[in-house]
Amino acid sequence: MPDQSFLVRGPRVAIRRLSFQDREEVAALERESAALHRPWVPARETTPEAFRAYVAKFDRPTHEGFVVCLRAGGAIVGGININNIVRDGIHSGTLGYAAYASTTGHGYMTEGLRLVVGYAFTELGLHRLEANIQPGNAASIRLVERLGFRRAGYFPRFQYVDGAWRDHERWVITAEAVGHAAGDGSG
Ligand SMILES: CC(C)(COP(=O)(O)OP(=O)(O)OC[C@H]1O[C@@H](n2cnc3c(N)ncnc32)[C@H](O)[C@@H]1OP(=O)(O)O)[C@@H](O)C(=O)NCCC(=O)NCCS
Repeated sequence: MPDQSFLVRGPRVAIRRLSFQDREEVAALERESAALHRPWVPARETTPEAFRAYVAKFDRPTHEGFVVCLRAGGAIVGGININNIVRDGIHSGTLGYAAYASTTGHGYMTEGLRLVVGYAFTELGLHRLEANIQPGNAASIRLVERLGFRRAGYFPRFQYVDGAWRDHERWVITAEAVGHAAGDGSG
């Protein structure tokens, strides 16, 4: 993937939009990461039909899909989505994210999520992002804490993952918390 497709670059990783051309790489990464992802995120099908439908979701104004890539070589090391974007004076979105087994624990997701948060609060004009995290998902909680998210609620039986309705904590961050000016809500 050419370097020019990157939206924002950090020291070691950069973010770009997910595309259908990423299917084989993402499918291999999902396969190697099944144990890492379960029971924290729903399993995702990567057949051509399923992946095409998944990527098409991000054509809608309510969803943004990014991949986190190593700047050196471009390999994908994570996926980050902003789902359920609401405008109309709220300007919020819900984050979903996952690292991959071979590259987890190197700080790439911290760097990549920081880039996505900054992009959301500037280029996308959002004001608030939330992440819904199971209380036992210590790695995910450490990740959002590092970025300045605050715990903002508890939702019993919030999401169906890996065969059960799972309780989730809601973690939030607003634009002001990371030094971006608050918009007037008209965007
Ligand atoms: C949650 C998840 C994305 C976190 O990914 P991660 O790989 O731990 O995140 P990072 O890439 O930022 O790595 C951070 C870790 O790397 C360590 N690290 C090692 N070298 C580092 C370096 N050079 N720079 C920064 N951090 C480094 C950090 O100390 C940190 O470890 P810690 O969490 O034990 O404190 C990952 O665990 C995951 O995909 N889980 C399954 C899916 C999931 O839970 N998604 C979220 C649902 S809410």
